[in-house]
Amino acid sequence: MGKIKRQKAVVLASGRGSNFEALVRAEKAGVISPFEIIGLISNQPDSGARELARNFCIPEVLVNSQPFKSPRGFDRSHYESELLKCLTALKPDWIFLAGYMLVLGPEIIAAFPKRILNIHPSLLPKHRGLRAQKQAIDAGDRIAGCSVHYVTEELDGGPIVLQKSLEILPDDTEETLSKRLLPLEHETYIEALQQIAKELN
Ligand code: GRF
Repeated sequence: MGKIKRQKAVVLASGRGSNFEALVRAEKAGVISPFEIIGLISNQPDSGARELARNFCIPEVLVNSQPFKSPRGFDRSHYESELLKCLTALKPDWIFLAGYMLVLGPEIIAAFPKRILNIHPSLLPKHRGLRAQKQAIDAGDRIAGCSVHYVTEELDGGPIVLQKSLEILPDDTEETLSKRLLPLEHETYIEALQQIAKELN
């Protein structure tokens, strides 16, 4: 069995950053080898993920999406060309979306074919898009879960790598369900990467 080439990964995150943190801790513990997290890109100046990156001494870049928003809408193409410039400079083999709250456009997806992963808090193809946990509760589902999938141009629609599920409790709210789901998301992302690592072998 040959040695697998080091796989450089950049994480894109907008918010709190718990999935980012779980991936970094897994990398440092040597459990998602050959992936190496070489940087974080965030579109939000106040993202918790940025602070985590600094604490872990992982290079972090802000590509602020705010200036690209106006009453006329979001200037996605200019924002994405900034993001693409940044990604091109970092030269990752993989991009891991971890609570990245913007939809990636076709140019970036085409630049990293089958090399972009996302974690989504539902059992896809159910409940795509925002507030998936609330969607599951509102739909009266008994089971919720999370999915790690490849990113394609179809929102939350790319091939699924791994899913894990848990029971929705009768008194679950969006908040309690999201909280119980989070550790499962972390676990699923790590196992999905372990699975991909085996396929690279
Ligand atoms: C997670 O629920 C993830 O599935 C969704 O956004 C949330 C991000 O949480 N895409 P965190 O920033 O990783 O803590």
